[in-house]
Order: sequence, then C-alpha cells, then structure tokens
Amino acid sequence: MSTQQKSFSSNLGAILAAVGSAVGLGNIWRFPYITGKYGGGAFLLVYLCFVFLLGSVLMISELVIGRRTRRTPLGAYESLTRKGHSVVWRMFGWLCVLTCFFILSQYLVLSGWTTGYVWHSVSGALATLGTDSSIISGFFQQFSTGGWNPVWFMVIFSALVLVVILGGVQKGVELASKVLMPILVVLILVLCVRSLTLPGAMRGVEYLFSPDFSKLTGEGILAALGQALFSLSVGMGVMVVYGSYLPANDNIFKTAMWITACDTLIAILAGVAIFPAVFSCGFDPAGGPGLVFCVLPNVFNSMGTAGIVFSVVFFLLLLVAALTSAISLLECLTACTCETSRLKRWQGAGLFFLLATALGAVFTLSFSHLSEVKMAGLSLFDFVDRINSIYLPPICALCTVIFFGWVMPKEAMVDELSNHGTLRIGYLKVLRFIARFIAPLALLVVLIWGIFFAQ
Ligand code: TRP
Repeated sequence: MSTQQKSFSSNLGAILAAVGSAVGLGNIWRFPYITGKYGGGAFLLVYLCFVFLLGSVLMISELVIGRRTRRTPLGAYESLTRKGHSVVWRMFGWLCVLTCFFILSQYLVLSGWTTGYVWHSVSGALATLGTDSSIISGFFQQFSTGGWNPVWFMVIFSALVLVVILGGVQKGVELASKVLMPILVVLILVLCVRSLTLPGAMRGVEYLFSPDFSKLTGEGILAALGQALFSLSVGMGVMVVYGSYLPANDNIFKTAMWITACDTLIAILAGVAIFPAVFSCGFDPAGGPGLVFCVLPNVFNSMGTAGIVFSVVFFLLLLVAALTSAISLLECLTACTCETSRLKRWQGAGLFFLLATALGAVFTLSFSHLSEVKMAGLSLFDFVDRINSIYLPPICALCTVIFFGWVMPKEAMVDELSNHGTLRIGYLKVLRFIARFIAPLALLVVLIWGIFFAQ
C-alpha cells in the first residue's frame, strides 16, 4: 500500500476545497427550514455551540489523521493503531467508504432534480407556471415522478463531477473549488440583497433569528447536533482524504476553524436569502423538498420578470453547492480505490461514477417506476435516507472521535497539531477533553435516540 504523493497547492486552495465539501444542499435548504421549525434564534444558539464545540473537533480529528498518515480512511486508521487492533480499524475504514457511497448515491438524486430545475428555469418553463401553488407543486410532482427524465439530469450532473475528478487533485478538485466557491458567494449575496429589500422582508428575518425557546424541544436539540455534523461533512472520512492533501505547513486548527466558520456563515446567509422572500410574497415556509422546489418557484414568479433571473441564480447556487460536495465524495471514493488496488485514478473514478450513478438512478426511479418496491416498509429513497441520517453518520462520527481521543498516539496528535513543535497549541487540553468524553457521549445519545425514538 503506498502513501499518497498528492496535495493541494496552497492553504487557501485546501480551505476552499473543504468548504466546498461542507457547503451543500444541507446548508441551503435544510439548515434554513429546520432553524425556522425549531425556534429560530434559540436553535441557532444551540447549533453554533455544537458546530464550534463538537463539529470542529471532528473536523480537526479527521484533518490530523489524514495529514499525519497521508492516506485515505482505509489505510489511515489502521496505520495509526498499535498492532492487534488494526483489523477493526481497517473495517472502520471500509464503513467510511460505504457511508460515502450511500450518501453520494442519495445526493445524486437531489442534485439531479436541481440540475433539472436549473434547466427549467433557464428555459422559462418554471416562469410560465404562474403563482398558483397547486400548479407549481403539480409540476414538481410530475417532474420527480417522471420516470427516466430526472435520471438523465442526474447523469449530466454526475458526468460533471467525474470530469472534475479526472482533472486530478490540483487541476480538478482544487481548481474547481477556487472557481466555484467565489461564484457561490456572489450568487448568495445577490439573493440576500434582493430578499432583504423586498417589502415586509423583516418578518422572514424575525422567523429565522428571533429566539423562541418554547419551540426548542429535545428533538430540536438533537436535530441541531445531527445537522452540525452533516453540514460539516465530518465523520465519514472525506476530511481524512482532504487532510491528506493539506500542505505540511498548514495550521490545522486554524484551517478547521475557517472551514467551520465559512460553512456556518453560508448556511445563515442561505436563510437570509430564502425566508424574507418567502414571507414577503405571503407564503408559508415549508420543509423538505417542498421549500426549494415548490415554494421558491412561486416566490420567483411573484416577482415578475426579474424573478426569472433570480430563479436562475438560485438554482445555479444550489447546483454549485451540490457539485462541490459531490466532488469531495467521489474524490474520497476514488482515492480509497487507488490506495487499495492497482486501478488508475481514472479507472477508480469511473468505477464509482458508474456504481453511484446506477444506484442514484434506482433511488430516483423509486419515485416512479420502482415506487412499489419497499424495504422495511419504506420506499427505496426513504430507506436510504434513514440509513444516511440515523445510522451510518453517527456511528462513523462516534468511531472517529474515539479513535482520535483514545486510540491514536497522543504524541502523533501533538506533533501534527503543532507542526512538529513550531506552533503553540494552548487548546490541546480542551480539545482532548471534548474528544475523549463530551463528543462520544453526545454522539451516543444521538445514535440511541435516532434508533429508538425517531419516527
Ligand atoms: N455537508 C454536505 C451538505 O451540507 C452534505 C454531506 C454530508 C457531505 N456528508 C458529506 C458532503 C460528506 C460531502 C461529503 O450538504
């Protein structure tokens, strides 16, 4: 097994790539609606605590493990383990691969819909639907249950991801992030300005930020923790791979804090771009796919001709966010394949492109031709959604912090965080305390609650 020779060319490139992975569909539509649902500012407060206290610790753990070993999760955990336990941690590496694969396949479904909506907003089809909610919802219904039609959009999306991965680490992943992330920021700022200057916009801002502690239930607190981990893309080895590409002089603590801060800021901006417009146009905020695919087109159509432009801007934003996240998932899978087999990069990427796209097609078709197929009483998409939210990510995250806090040698951790003794690491005690005690406990609670109590 060889260690990787690849790396990002600059610290900024590394941060942008990791922020690209973190900022995804989870930020742009999931974060805003669950924030509204669980008490606005009150939820935000809890979310911020989780993101900076737990999420960033997981982020640091994965980056440290990756850069220390310069390997993917398949080799990294194993190589930092004392003899005798390596099989268990190698299996954990495989679990990370499986998790990435399932998340990518599910992600492709939503990304395919997003690609379709970019097309329908550019072609003007969405604009002709007017402002009748039932017509707009009907359009989404027809599109998502439209058999192979959404599948082709998904194939276009996956092909874009594949092209980037084939470009390599620096000329593919890093370059794409350097181009796409500034575009994403500009798009989101344009939408925020438009949304905030609409009449009655403040009601949306209030919905998002004014704290209502009565809505902050136990369920809301656990949702905040789950969202914090999902949003940062931590716990499934993707950041181990990106950590293995970090330049040797990179200050991991600082990088992790930047990634965490940027991811959170973009999630908040997404809320500011969406809710003031929703309220200003007199709509109710919805949850799930309904918000993005049913409510927002209506909002855009009520803005007149300018709405067409904003509709294109919004769906492009969503597409860019989904692209950089999907890129990181395919990169992780490709790197793992290349590390354990003799396959070349293009072969590994091609293999997982085919597998994930095929599974993504099955999940997309579970809304139409395969709607009769059930697993555990759920449609195939709902089944994988459950696995991807309740089981795999918390299990992987739990194993990651246990590895970081209890298994890997402390000297290796200190050496890596301090860049061989050249940086001060006054935060070490707090970091280790969280990684050893607080994070495992919190993750265990999330896991148990998810398995036994989530409907
Ligand atoms: N963070 C992504 C988002 O907010 C989703 C995600 C979860 C992800 N785990 C990941 C993306 C792993 C890339 C890799 O939408």
